Amino acid sequence: MPLIFYVTHDGNTFEANIPVGGNLMQGAVDNGIDGIVGACGGAMCCATCHCYVDDAWINKTGVAEGAEFEMVAATSEPKPSSRLSCQLTVTEEMEGLTIHLPSSQ
Ligand code: FES
Repeated sequence: MPLIFYVTHDGNTFEANIPVGGNLMQGAVDNGIDGIVGACGGAMCCATCHCYVDDAWINKTGVAEGAEFEMVAATSEPKPSSRLSCQLTVTEEMEGLTIHLPSSQ
């Protein structure tokens, strides 16, 4: 289970081991990490799981495309590194992955 780091907008870092095949939204919810709500349960229709992939990891995760891109572009604080954490599926290669959480959450 890769160790994932969640950094809140005010600089607090939470860490959790998330199972391979799970997603970063569910991992945050299961571990009580503030800043990711996941209101739609991963159906890609709420954007309450918005996050920013750390610059060092964007090559591994890729950027938002298609419907996911449209969702993050409609948030209040979109950035090029914006992703929906429910669409980020954990792989073994994500050991140490860091995501940042927007202040709006
Ligand atoms: S949980 Fe709703 S869009 Fe990700």
